[in-house]
Amino acid sequence: MSDLSIKQILAAQGPIAEMTVQGWVRTVRRGKGVTFIALNDGSCLDSLQVVVDPEKPGCESVADTGTGASLQVSGELVASPAEGQSWEMQAAEVVLVGASDGDYPLQKKRHSLEFMRTIAHLRPRANAFGAVFRMRSALSFAVHRFFHERGFLNLHSPIITASDCEGAGEMFRVTTLDDNRPPMHDGKVDYNKDFFGEQTGLTVSGQLEGELFATAFKNIYTFGPTFRAENSNTSRHAAEFWMIEPEMAFCDLAGDCRLAEEFLRAMVTCALTECADDLHFFDQRIEKGLIDRLQSLSTAQFETMTYTEAVAQLVKAKQSFEYPVVWGGDLQSEHERYLTEQVVGGPLFVVDYPKEIKAFYMRRNDDGKTVAAMDLLVPRVGELIGGSQREERLDLLQSCMLENGIPHESLDWYLDIRRWGSCPHAGFGLGFERLLMYLTGMENIRDVIPFPRTPGNARF
Ligand code: 4AD
Ligand code: MG
Repeated sequence: MSDLSIKQILAAQGPIAEMTVQGWVRTVRRGKGVTFIALNDGSCLDSLQVVVDPEKPGCESVADTGTGASLQVSGELVASPAEGQSWEMQAAEVVLVGASDGDYPLQKKRHSLEFMRTIAHLRPRANAFGAVFRMRSALSFAVHRFFHERGFLNLHSPIITASDCEGAGEMFRVTTLDDNRPPMHDGKVDYNKDFFGEQTGLTVSGQLEGELFATAFKNIYTFGPTFRAENSNTSRHAAEFWMIEPEMAFCDLAGDCRLAEEFLRAMVTCALTECADDLHFFDQRIEKGLIDRLQSLSTAQFETMTYTEAVAQLVKAKQSFEYPVVWGGDLQSEHERYLTEQVVGGPLFVVDYPKEIKAFYMRRNDDGKTVAAMDLLVPRVGELIGGSQREERLDLLQSCMLENGIPHESLDWYLDIRRWGSCPHAGFGLGFERLLMYLTGMENIRDVIPFPRTPGNARF
């Protein structure tokens, strides 16, 4: 008896006299004296064709087997006479482990991605989602490998925190106070009486803690869940997503961009080499030309443009935009996509943004107007990465905090690393789901997360 996955079986070098497989039925085709079952166990896109004689003793339960049922089949692996597959299984025994009837939602016909979202508990069994989640798993491993190979320390930054790193007021609150009768002080809820003795929430970024560790371990990264209560119901925003945040001491913005570029190339290479079958599926069904696009990325130049140059490009664009473009304003997704898709036709770093539209911790440039920030924009997705060199000069950081209305006491621990042994340092954040959208061609962030959390939706 063998304990092989269907992926291993389909890659067999020769016939196997005796083996047992388990999986879920994709399709059942009944002919005269023979039943064909396509059995899938999630290990790869392809299913194993199981050939059953329904009258054979031990195989009778195949008569009650419907799409979606779980089976354990014992038998022999033989060369397949059918086209498109090298191997098939001749069943000696079929055990119907879990039956499935005609109400099973994933019957033969193709379903829309939108419909699949309504059955998130079953969608991993569909081809497209099997491919997405295998790729997600492979990429997740590749992220750790990338940093591990470069000697970065993996930091588990906290999920509950009292500081809003991005200062955007998008934190979900964490409290144990009684909703109906919270303790009050001077007409306000008294968070001193809350579990942590102050107001806390779910982290929007592990960066601040990452900076502390970078100034001890030099190069660190975090890779964990991140939460944002932004009420924007777009195809690129989720309330819960996974972020990868490297932070490097003795590093400036140029070094930060270099790491981002190397990282993105490594992820593309992983997808091309380790997820070839799934990528082929996306190329055929989700985004035509995906593989070519990814292959060309391995040699493509990553362009760099300052924010000021980007605004000049947008102002002279022939195309009209919904949101006006003025120096000092945030770039909207339509602007980002125009720059990366129309102006450079590939990945683009936009650097040196006006200080007013960026977070308090970014390093001031000498012009007094801009900060050493970078966003990496890519076609179709827009902003994939946001990063910066950090302000390492205590007095300047303190004045930035004042300008942003952040009391020094609240981040005293963060200021401390500028007090003793401060050094230039830089890092970035990459949204893992945005990366997956880029690599799979999926257009909605909901379709690359196992269980999406978006405004109005936390089911399953
Ligand atoms: O640009 P952001 O807000 O940067 C930071 O949080 C920094 N603290 C990162 C750092 O320098 N260490 O977010 C970083 C990335 C974005 O570029 C985007 O890919 C992703 O996180 N992101 C989201 N992904 C999905 N849903 C959302 N609501 C996201 N918000 C940001
Ligand atoms: Mg950003």
